[in-house]
Amino acid sequence: MKFYITTPIYYVNDKPHVGHAYTTIAADVLARYHRMLGHDVFFVTGTDENSQKNVEAAKKAGEADLTKYLDQMSATWQSTWDSLGITNNAFIRTTEERHVKAVEKFWKASFENGDIYEGQYEGLYCVGCESYKTEDDLVDGKCPLHKREPDRLSEKNYFFRLTKYREALLKLIDEHPEFVQPTSRRNEIRSYIDKFMTDVSISRETVKCGIPVPGDDSQRIYVWFDALINYLTAVGYGSDEAMFAKYWPADVHLVGKDIIKFHCALWPAMLLSAGLPLPTRVFANGFFTINGDKISKSLGNAIDPIELAQNFGNDVLRYFLLREIKYGEDGDFALARMEQRYDSDLASELGNLLSRVITMAEKFCDGKVPERADGFLAGAWPAYQLAMEEVRFLDALEVTWKLVRESNQFIDQQAPWKLAKLGEQKMIDQTMYVLLETLRHIAWMLLPFMPETAEKMLAQLGLETPKEFTQSAESAWVWGGLEPGHVLQKSDPLFPRRP
Ligand code: ME8
Ligand code: MG
Repeated sequence: MKFYITTPIYYVNDKPHVGHAYTTIAADVLARYHRMLGHDVFFVTGTDENSQKNVEAAKKAGEADLTKYLDQMSATWQSTWDSLGITNNAFIRTTEERHVKAVEKFWKASFENGDIYEGQYEGLYCVGCESYKTEDDLVDGKCPLHKREPDRLSEKNYFFRLTKYREALLKLIDEHPEFVQPTSRRNEIRSYIDKFMTDVSISRETVKCGIPVPGDDSQRIYVWFDALINYLTAVGYGSDEAMFAKYWPADVHLVGKDIIKFHCALWPAMLLSAGLPLPTRVFANGFFTINGDKISKSLGNAIDPIELAQNFGNDVLRYFLLREIKYGEDGDFALARMEQRYDSDLASELGNLLSRVITMAEKFCDGKVPERADGFLAGAWPAYQLAMEEVRFLDALEVTWKLVRESNQFIDQQAPWKLAKLGEQKMIDQTMYVLLETLRHIAWMLLPFMPETAEKMLAQLGLETPKEFTQSAESAWVWGGLEPGHVLQKSDPLFPRRP
């Protein structure tokens, strides 16, 4: 089974902050989870480069050569994801030749279908959003998101017949409730499509950057029309038909709630127009603030994810982001909370559990796995899997932490050190098997979320982490996988005390 997952392609007007890392990390967790199921995963991220925002940023940075600026910035995004351990299979740039070809092919398909026409655009445009605005969108005459007055445009443009697809889009949303996720966003999208959606201008006359309109060099394709097509280009549209047939449609587009309309209205309409299958799901994450403030350059609070990862480790950042805020909802990212979670969830609960169990196994079981015994795993895997299928990361982590807490309680209850004094070796063996085997399951549940930690846990259990999954890992999720007699490998604490 294939699984095609994407993140938004990001503007390169700045380097990534922790908000961008949030969506990308979420996609990485899902990609790793599906690989673990033995699926043929294709995971793409990239950069959105034909944007006026980037041109402005290059100017501001004093870089006269736009191409050079784009190359440097795109490389910065790529290397950020590499250093955060993101396992994307491809990285797409919208300035690549193959993308320009794909966009041209798409434009022609849509044009031939009668969905592109010439018209006069009169209205407002916010470069910050790269989006057309109405007076209703503004607060005090300004874009509420970018706090700037939109440009007033009056120019000849090409329009996309979006309204032709109103009925089809409503049908899509009503018949495929899973298309817009989380459910809480569905009504907003539905009412937009039903009541507010108009045809949209898809070219710009005055703009210098962007892909030229096929057959009309005086016009550049509107950046969003071009950007959405990246999802097709990345899997071979217009360049590798076999690959395209294999991976398209996308199984899930992860996006932020700021760009859900583009993905749940414009994008499916574009695909219908070009006669292409629709993606299965669009899942929008909420927005978070940092210590109560909106992330913004002027506030200077745009936390660098690399810095965070240097201080805490990649895994801790991944864990914190997905554990602290319910995926899909807004929330606050507070550094103090990250420290707290490190100390409590990670160092005292998980880290301590592992070192206590391995230490006791050395002391009371000769550092080996004792005979098999029954544990308390119960419905943990089905609950975990359902949560992952429904992109409820926090719930999947809760299932995992329930096992962590139950294991810690089980140690206190059984008190192997007391059993040792009483010479109850059989009970010690049973207790230790349950704890070691439960740790193995916890490690497997953590593999998508905290890959480095999971690997360290498995190593202390004397096990290797599979590097590739040619078939589903489900057989590893059955109770009793840890072989009696198997030798354990005690090592350093997972989460050393912070200074
Ligand atoms: O919109 N909280 O790119 P972009 C959560 N190029 N998520 C956040 C966030 C925050 N504070 N800040 C950013 C674009 N994000 C277009 C996309 S796709 C065909 C084109 C994440 O650089 C979130 O996923 O402005 C949001 O949608 C994305 O970054 C916007 O990135
Ligand atoms: Mg943005």
